[in-house]
Amino acid sequence: MPRETAVKALQHIYNCLSQDEPFSIEYQVRNIENLSDKALARNIIATTLRHNGEINAIIKILCKQGKQQGIVLALLRAGIAQLLFTDIAEYAVINESVKLAKKINPRLGGFVNGVLRNSQRKKVELLAEIDRVKVSIPKWIYNACVNKYGKETTYKALEASLQPASIDVTLKNPQDMEKYVDLLEGVALPSNRSVRVKSTNVYNMPEYEDGTWWIQDFSATLPVNIMEKVIKEYYPNIQNKDISVADICCAPGGKTMQLASLGFDVVGFDNSEYRLDIMNENLQRTKTEAKTVCCDVFIHQPKEKFDVVLLDAPCSATGTIRRHPESLLTKKNLDMEIMVARQYKLLKYALKHYLKPGGILLFCTCSILPEEAEYIQKRFTGSMLGKIINLNQPAYCDEEYLTKYYTPEGGFRTLPHMIDGGMDAFGGFIVQKHGNLQKK
Ligand SMILES: C[S@@+](CC[C@H](N)C(=O)[O-])C[C@H]1O[C@@H](n2cnc3c(N)ncnc32)[C@H](O)[C@@H]1O
Repeated sequence: MPRETAVKALQHIYNCLSQDEPFSIEYQVRNIENLSDKALARNIIATTLRHNGEINAIIKILCKQGKQQGIVLALLRAGIAQLLFTDIAEYAVINESVKLAKKINPRLGGFVNGVLRNSQRKKVELLAEIDRVKVSIPKWIYNACVNKYGKETTYKALEASLQPASIDVTLKNPQDMEKYVDLLEGVALPSNRSVRVKSTNVYNMPEYEDGTWWIQDFSATLPVNIMEKVIKEYYPNIQNKDISVADICCAPGGKTMQLASLGFDVVGFDNSEYRLDIMNENLQRTKTEAKTVCCDVFIHQPKEKFDVVLLDAPCSATGTIRRHPESLLTKKNLDMEIMVARQYKLLKYALKHYLKPGGILLFCTCSILPEEAEYIQKRFTGSMLGKIINLNQPAYCDEEYLTKYYTPEGGFRTLPHMIDGGMDAFGGFIVQKHGNLQKK
């Protein structure tokens, strides 16, 4: 049953992809009640999408005659994904796939059996023949990265972005790190505020309901960790509760919860009611306090401006491929010019309408593309609205786990290969708005 659901879902998903329609893996497995069956179906679908490039290349090599289509192609893709890229027992994969093939058409059993056994037998040589990055990563993403990071780094980064994502949690009280490393059976990450956990069923992990931690990729925690240092420098001797922060494009709220747990007076802005509902549940569960406002941030003008702004701008999300393998197939032809122009416009709008004179703003995107961070920083340099705060200064360089992500131009950049076990790609920079900082 879970395999049949996965194969049918894959047939549907590939159909959606060819017609540029949105889809969700979670929605496809919604009717499976048993949790381990649901996890199996989800795993088959995600693995097939993550390895789509390699699987297509293998099918091309193994099925020389005729182009497979529809449910048969989905069945082959799912079977090869399980055999080559999961540790699901091989006999189970082949038996169940052949059973399913016969159900579709009794004459298909032999063919599916032959292709799957062949892929299993030739696994090592097939995989050696295929350049994983080349067949998986859209060429425009590869080219954009090579231009900035060079071939070697690009290759490492993109290869790491094809690995399944780790699960990291941020602790509400980092003082309790040792306790949570034991409790969650994880390892402490270098910020000493996040734990990388083994479990994949986070809802069953200890203290989920108590809200002592929330899920947040390590890289996504870094903007707030960096910003905290800059805030201390610009607002010395002022308590966090007296510093107002606007978290623009805040949902589902990972950074808002970080800011709130540090005691800042936070208001989160987002235009997605659905994502804000999830965020409000998160805030309630973690007993962290922040106001939320549902609005189009391009139109909204807050009555009072803020001391600090965090702007996590909507972007290509190419930094989160590990978490969303389907994006390898959906992000074929994004219009980056429009996307980047919107980000730049949002940066200027946030500086003008949300931030007090002299206040500081952190701009970031969960993107691997330099267009969405480094190039925006470059374009902003010399702006009438504010000046870039160079992070390569002693006040911000006391922790090696952060400085390793600072760029020579004074912004920050993470790439997926930069820590063991991987991380999302993030990039950004900090600006001080022109004008006199209002003393509190
Ligand atoms: C990168 S996600 C934010 C992630 C969030 N900062 C966190 O750490 O959990 C971008 C968010 O921007 C929101 N968004 C996109 N366009 C917007 C707009 N015009 N006004 C307000 N929010 C917008 C989306 O709903 C989405 O939640």
